[in-house]
Amino acid sequence: MGETWLHICTTCQPGSAEADPCPGQRLYDDAVALHDPAAGGVRVAAVICLANCERGCSASLSSPGKWSYLIGGLQPALAGDLLAYARAYAASATGTVLRSKRPASLAQVIVGRVPPPGTAGPTLSSAPTTESKP
Ligand code: FES
Repeated sequence: MGETWLHICTTCQPGSAEADPCPGQRLYDDAVALHDPAAGGVRVAAVICLANCERGCSASLSSPGKWSYLIGGLQPALAGDLLAYARAYAASATGTVLRSKRPASLAQVIVGRVPPPGTAGPTLSSAPTTESKP
């Protein structure tokens, strides 16, 4: 199983008020502080802009051979829940983690997903149902 990458945008500044450090940086800092690199095969990394600025704070999950996910609507207080989701993603064979298997605070945060390179058609999961839609 490949390494899971949790990229967190450190430049997200949702809302009109400018904060220093910005909420994206705080989310990243809190995730790094809470992260146990020995647990769950997850690497946390900073990134500048995931092109989801209108729905920041933003993050992404990716791993070779798995669906990649863009996540939005986050806030610094959700760093622990985001790490729990990343560990569940790492444990999943396809990267799909149903809403019911994510922390409740992250039920509505999936902005989109991208299949792994080299796949075509519904090779990783069947057509989404209400429950299986990310
Ligand atoms: S600044 Fe965070 S997604 Fe653009």
